Amino acid sequence: MLGSGSLSTKWTTYLGLLSVLSTAFSPVFAVKEHDWKKCDQSGFCRRNRAYADHALSAISWESPYKIAPETGSFKDGQYQAIILKTINDHGETVRLPLTVSFLESGTARVTIDEEKRQKGEIELRHDSKARKERYNEAEQWVIVGGMTLDKGAKVDYEDKTQMTVKYGPSSKFEATIKFAPFSIDFKRDGASHIKFNDQGLLNIEHWRPKIDPPPEPEKKEGEQQPDKKEEAPREDDSTWWEESFGGNTDSKPRGPESVGLDISFVGYEHVFGIPSHASPLSLKQTRGGEGNYNEPYRMYNADVFEYILDSPMTLYGSIPFMQAHRKDSSVGIFWLNAAETWVDITKGKDSKNPLALGVKSKITTRTHWFSESGLLDVFVFLGPTPKDIISKYAELTGTTAMPQEFSLGYHQCRWNYVSDEDVKDVDRKMDKFNMPYDVIWLDIEYTDEKKYFTWDKHSFKDPIGMGKQLEAHGRKLVTIIDPHIKNTNNYPVVDELKSKDLAVKTKDGSIFEGWCWPGSSHWIDAFNPAAREWWKGLFKYDKFKGTMENTFIWNDMNEPSVFNGPEVTMPKDNLHHGNWEHRDVHNLNGMTFQNATYHALLSRKPGEHRRPFVLTRAFFAGSQRLGAMWTGDNTADWGYLKASIPMVLSQGIAGFPFAGADVGGFFGNPDKDLLTRWYQTGIFYPFFRAHAHIDARRREPYLTGEPYNTIIAAALRLRYSLLPSWYTAFRHAHLDGTPIIKPMFYTHPSEEAGLPIDDQFFIGNTGLLAKPVTDKDRTSVDIWIPDSEVYYDYFTYDIISAAKSKTATLDAPLEKIPLLMRGGHVFARRDIPRRSSALMKWDPYTLVVVLGNDRKAEGDLYVDDGDSFDYEKGQYIHRRFIFDANTLTSADYEGRDDASIKEGEWLKKMRTVNVEKIIVVGAPAAWKGKKTVTVESEGKTWAAAIEYNPAEKSRAAFAVVKKVGVRVGADFKIVFG
Ligand SMILES: *[C@@H]1O[C@H](CO)[C@@H](O)[C@H](O)[C@H]1NC(C)=O
Repeated sequence: MLGSGSLSTKWTTYLGLLSVLSTAFSPVFAVKEHDWKKCDQSGFCRRNRAYADHALSAISWESPYKIAPETGSFKDGQYQAIILKTINDHGETVRLPLTVSFLESGTARVTIDEEKRQKGEIELRHDSKARKERYNEAEQWVIVGGMTLDKGAKVDYEDKTQMTVKYGPSSKFEATIKFAPFSIDFKRDGASHIKFNDQGLLNIEHWRPKIDPPPEPEKKEGEQQPDKKEEAPREDDSTWWEESFGGNTDSKPRGPESVGLDISFVGYEHVFGIPSHASPLSLKQTRGGEGNYNEPYRMYNADVFEYILDSPMTLYGSIPFMQAHRKDSSVGIFWLNAAETWVDITKGKDSKNPLALGVKSKITTRTHWFSESGLLDVFVFLGPTPKDIISKYAELTGTTAMPQEFSLGYHQCRWNYVSDEDVKDVDRKMDKFNMPYDVIWLDIEYTDEKKYFTWDKHSFKDPIGMGKQLEAHGRKLVTIIDPHIKNTNNYPVVDELKSKDLAVKTKDGSIFEGWCWPGSSHWIDAFNPAAREWWKGLFKYDKFKGTMENTFIWNDMNEPSVFNGPEVTMPKDNLHHGNWEHRDVHNLNGMTFQNATYHALLSRKPGEHRRPFVLTRAFFAGSQRLGAMWTGDNTADWGYLKASIPMVLSQGIAGFPFAGADVGGFFGNPDKDLLTRWYQTGIFYPFFRAHAHIDARRREPYLTGEPYNTIIAAALRLRYSLLPSWYTAFRHAHLDGTPIIKPMFYTHPSEEAGLPIDDQFFIGNTGLLAKPVTDKDRTSVDIWIPDSEVYYDYFTYDIISAAKSKTATLDAPLEKIPLLMRGGHVFARRDIPRRSSALMKWDPYTLVVVLGNDRKAEGDLYVDDGDSFDYEKGQYIHRRFIFDANTLTSADYEGRDDASIKEGEWLKKMRTVNVEKIIVVGAPAAWKGKKTVTVESEGKTWAAAIEYNPAEKSRAAFAVVKKVGVRVGADFKIVFG
């Protein structure tokens, strides 16, 4: 959804003009860059960069932060001490309480606060009502587990200058805390991996009173100015007390209060993470130089319509979790701070330590983090595998919610379906053109004048009738509900928001008013428990009339987007519940709103316990627990198609894998090739939705004409047939944070060449390796083959031979999706074409067994009712398939005993669902002439017919058993040889 009324109008005019000029002309649109701050327009960014420049160029620089050793104590896995910051030449200091916590999981946490502010011994300017403490509640929203202290952590060494703590599993981690200047060196197996304040950039801007300079003596005409005495250069305080941008002034009642720290990844050449940016997976350097950025990566959730590609500028959501990878080693950090945050990245030889022990690549990546306010609070993960750091991060912030199963299907959206008749018509046409889909979406125009929880009575006369037509094929409706509430008469929602005092306030404590879609609006403050409670009530079926059980919700504009606010969002001195400034909580705002909606959907009707589905645009660490995200307002241009892959991969490795980009591109009009290729890519996004701007031409996939319609329908069918495998991948994401689509570094951390590859990926544990075509007029792709396993073309079973360089060239004319199967995997499909995922619920399964070089294969399948929370009570099927010694077996994935599971209604019904077909790719020649295989299950043994197809040219031999007839939930054994 586009975020600025005035720009929207301009856009319309521009587009109108363009279509007159030429329809083939494909313009490249750039965000109004000057609407968003560059580093030097953000006071604390400028100050922290200047601090770094000074520290790094000074001949002798010593960081002014020292632990007072006598204040230190170590107990139960936690070290506490006071850091003294020297603030002037007289040796005056400020006390900064430090806590280093060693957690049972092997994660360490370093927190620095400010004593005066903890005690409230500061004065706020402008009679501000804001809290005096540094914001210390981010953990309350973000952290859900993994915080047990490691009682086994112990001080291994201590003297007057430093101490070393050993911690983590089998004490293989250690942290050496140096007292003066303060620094921490995190080691694994004796070698340094992560260093804090190694460069001396730690910077906690302590509170200080504003001292107004004495007024300048009035200058008299003709009088000589007396020579001023030479003064010591002062710190640049021009941005301490007030800042203006784009006509908005931030009153900054607490003055300067940023926190900054340098974090070095010793011997690591690649860093990944900190989404969302339209940037490569392996993050670029940010301090200039050829091919590098000049600006730091920024995280300040913003409505950046028409964002530009290959840029560190902020987008709609932020996850301040960064990972460093090199061959066979991964480490990471999580910067828990919800204020505006910037990260500078530089790489270089480790000059201080040129012979870094056991480090082959001598490049070290140095990062410099700074946030405008709040605590300095950092978690450290020491790996050693990508899976280790991602699962430890997930332990803290939670995993992907088990999704509504329908939400893995295809979503059809545009701004806007104009009436209930329009929706019903699209629904019928999708069927007519044999295009499966699960969800149709309504953007803002369905409402009565942008008043959420109402319908436009002229165009949506019968929402229930519309919902019922969708329900007939198991389909769903998603309606948009945004956090801005129209400020108007005769609208009970805004009346209650005001009378119950549940809205975000201005710095003076009055209700905040700004502009968004409805014009003048107020914003619900979802940090307030009473506001969340009230929000729940609005979604009850009898309150939000026209919705039914198949209605779900889209939360847009929740950065929040405020058209007339600074950087299209709220003033930073606005106040939230508890009198926390918006400055402190900005990046959490979107998550608390999505959470309010999530909980509202949980309580629409007493006794209804169904999984919510809520799409969000703004997000933070932890949002993965609440639903899906998309990458915001992209453009119908090949560059955006290409950029969507690293963006979605980046979400996946940062713990929020339920991600996708608008298929087709939001702005503009994709040509037919682009639209087709976008569908062929979108089927691999965990969240698969097409969307279009109100000024874009209609582009429902069936409007594309032949041969495109057939090609797109085939892509949709591919997604639908693989839904069982997608759902299984979501299960793993839910269990331990595993990404759903996986970049090469994740699956093959030992392959140096694969670490930065971000245009191909594996799907879950299926061994399916996809490399979508994202270039105009391309009819082949070069795919990197990460190992010496055998790979087959998904569609033809051709054996793929990779050259020495490990790349294989795959033919990819428009109708072809480059998709390989890696040997050694078993994955599940449902092959009967249906209109929606709900209609596939009781369909039989096909197992594809892709034999590896060693003639073995393994895989799994997870199934539950896809809708309720009964899976939490054991109501699911999770099978592990192993093919070995010519025998395929199926056993419970967790080794559960069948008899121990009390079957509910859904499990009972699943007794009728079979594995019907088995395809063995790479079948051994010895099977030639075989007519049957032996199936054993549930105490019975029978023969099933097998059809063997010998190898032919480059095509591998394969065998098909068509009527296996085993229950998918039962143990079985099938003997092939
Ligand atoms: C979500 O809402 C629930 C219920 O109001 C509350 O307990 C929880 O703290 C909230 N979490 C987030 C992340 O907003």
